Amino acid sequence: MKFEDFVYTKENDLFYKVKLANEYLDSGETTGTEGLGVQILEKSSPELIMREKNGHEYSTIMLGSNSYLNLTQHPQVIEGARKALEKYGYGMGAVSLYAGITDLHRELEERIANFYGTEDAIVFPSGYGANVGIISALCNENDVIINDSENHASIFDGCKLSGAKIKVYPHSNTKQLEKILSRLDDSVSGRLIITDGVFSMSGDLAKLDKIVELAQKYGAKLMVDDAHGLGIIGKTGRGTAQHFDVMNKVDLHVGMLSKVPGAIGGYCATTKEIARYLRLYARTYFFSTAIPAPIIGGLIEVFKLLEHDIAGRVELWGNINYMKSQLEVRGFNVSNSQSGIIPIIVGDEKKLFEFYNDLRLSGVYTNIVTYPAVRRKECRLRLCVMKELTKDQMDRAIEIITQKGKEYGIIE
Ligand SMILES: Cc1ncc(COP(=O)(O)O)c(C=O)c1O
Repeated sequence: MKFEDFVYTKENDLFYKVKLANEYLDSGETTGTEGLGVQILEKSSPELIMREKNGHEYSTIMLGSNSYLNLTQHPQVIEGARKALEKYGYGMGAVSLYAGITDLHRELEERIANFYGTEDAIVFPSGYGANVGIISALCNENDVIINDSENHASIFDGCKLSGAKIKVYPHSNTKQLEKILSRLDDSVSGRLIITDGVFSMSGDLAKLDKIVELAQKYGAKLMVDDAHGLGIIGKTGRGTAQHFDVMNKVDLHVGMLSKVPGAIGGYCATTKEIARYLRLYARTYFFSTAIPAPIIGGLIEVFKLLEHDIAGRVELWGNINYMKSQLEVRGFNVSNSQSGIIPIIVGDEKKLFEFYNDLRLSGVYTNIVTYPAVRRKECRLRLCVMKELTKDQMDRAIEIITQKGKEYGIIE
């Protein structure tokens, strides 16, 4: 049985699938879900106490957090959040367009726009909702959206909701992207290419130099979701577009406030006209309550640190390079990782489940990744590196990963 087998049952009872899925989860079979949703018993840090679903508590090295720079704990950020809490309270009361936003919300949008060199920016209550709202507001049945196959789930969900024609090219294959673009017929009105900047399951970078060229050649607009690039990639941490020197050639710079910024929310840095349009037409903005002011107060401090590139990017890269090279030397396949995300390709789901569970219970917490996020034969662990990991913590993690990797035949 596979996890997704239960979703499309033909029974009349709507909840029959729920019953089947629960039976599967209770069967005692290893499902790969054992470590999902564990409880964290301390503040976010690279080594912390965790509680398993069965109540077992233990210390673990955290390689599963996207708070790469651990700004959630930065004193300046906490102080910003505290001041905003005292001034505005902890919630917003209703959606932005009905209950208003604070001056802090507007300041954050202006700082984000300034960071990307765009005219304006709009902040959404969640990153997932940013993608869904932007895409479904801008595209409809007459348009075509061309996606990299490894784009984030929220992008594909936005595409489905939009009703646009959806085309997909194999991961990072710009030849296939061009083939799709060159074959579009004239009945298609709008064309939008969407790509992650840093791919969230592989850690490689989209070839934005080539993609920009193709977008221009075939009259397509370009949206980049740089959730995992912000604050890490590019010479001053402006992300993947900066790395390829195409900052002003991306039409929609989308990013998440949940990864390096360490909070919650998403944004789109773009023109004044598009931001204004999205405020009215993106349903995940219009119909969803704004982020509470304390979070926004913290995020303003985050962007002050990012603007001056003093949030710890250089130290993070020291850790990324160390972890990656140590894993490679030991024979792990880390694919083409170019960011804070390091995959360890396993390729056999049963082995992956066991490797992942054993690592976690031995004190190394990683993310498990398999279908539908990636093809089953490319299933993997995903390691996310944090700036505050010490050399000792990295060495201990590498040692355990190596020992278990040998045990499960992932390396020799
Ligand atoms: C590439 C990418 N886009 C969008 C999202 C959604 O962001 P959020 O978790 O902030 O809703 C994520 C993270 O889950 C992501 O990795």
